[in-house]
Amino acid sequence: MSSLIIESSGRINMIGEHVDYNGGCVLPGSIDKKIRFKFHKVDGPNCHIKSLTIAKEFKFSFENLSPRKVHWENYIIGAVNNLINKKLLKLSPFSCEISSYLPIGAGISSSSSLICGIVKGLIALNDLKLSNNDIVDIVLDVEHNYIGLKGGIMDQFTILNGKKDSLILLKCENREFKYIPSKLKNFKILLLNTNIEHKLANTAYNERVNECNEALKIINNYTDNNFDFLCEVPEKILNNNKKFLSKNLFKRASFVLNENLRTIHSAEMLEMNKLSELGNLMYESHYGLSKYYEVSCEELDFLVDLSRQHHKIIGSRMMGGGFGGCTINLIQDDFVDQFVDESCKAYHRKFGKEATPILTELDNGIMIKKT
Ligand code: GLA
Repeated sequence: MSSLIIESSGRINMIGEHVDYNGGCVLPGSIDKKIRFKFHKVDGPNCHIKSLTIAKEFKFSFENLSPRKVHWENYIIGAVNNLINKKLLKLSPFSCEISSYLPIGAGISSSSSLICGIVKGLIALNDLKLSNNDIVDIVLDVEHNYIGLKGGIMDQFTILNGKKDSLILLKCENREFKYIPSKLKNFKILLLNTNIEHKLANTAYNERVNECNEALKIINNYTDNNFDFLCEVPEKILNNNKKFLSKNLFKRASFVLNENLRTIHSAEMLEMNKLSELGNLMYESHYGLSKYYEVSCEELDFLVDLSRQHHKIIGSRMMGGGFGGCTINLIQDDFVDQFVDESCKAYHRKFGKEATPILTELDNGIMIKKT
């Protein structure tokens, strides 16, 4: 193939936050907001990348794939480096033009979507065969080693496997998954972006990952167990060993176990069309994220609290890694405009900043469109 177009989606997560790297269950879905890539093979040696969205471009050759000073370039360089130097694949020099319709830093996974799009595009352009699970591993490696976020597999897996009108119940420990049809009756998925981007979000996120690993290590040591993931630890064992954990580690671990159970429960409720039960679990999730896992912020808490005053919103919580980004709201379709207006005005009055609404639908994940 000498040229092609890729559309790579963003993702929402209905529930199951900060459990993916703990081997638990998540309930995400790919959405109708996408990044579009136009790939062409070119005569070497230089590759040429151009982002129409941020009006920046750069060139590189396969001879020099060491990390760059300009942060966004590492998403591309990291992906190419992995394919050539870790997977030992042969790539042709290429050009790629990127246009993004996914807000950056909103917690809807613009980073994973960008890397997934580059990897999927290069695989197709070079007629290579790699499974979606291989691609998940490549993107994870780029995020861990080039971007510095020690995240889990939820985002990449969802972008690669997402399906229209469905959420995915994914068990991150072994990647077993099941589609949960999610037509959501007369409810819409409304995201409210706080437009807060925490500068140290990566650092704070990695701190939580470390805390979970530490809690797991202590539990394994004191109980003579060999659990691979925190989510495998039965609640009883956690509670019986509370005295060995610091107050913070116990709070983190207990949130993770509860969030995992909430996610499994939520998928059951969704399958039975019990949307208000699902909504209640979303509120519980937010409470845990805010008070036990401590990854929320004043702005997110404010928007979630505002939603509680309206019976036409049945669930709301912060979504994604936290420390800013969006809330996700399950809202009756005839109330969207009014709530957007009200919440954006209230947000502005309180914080002097704009909140941005993003009305979204569950759509297919990544797609190759041949030219
Ligand atoms: C980020 C990470 C994911 C996941 C979420 C929190 O989006 O990339 O792997 O951990 O945060 O659920």
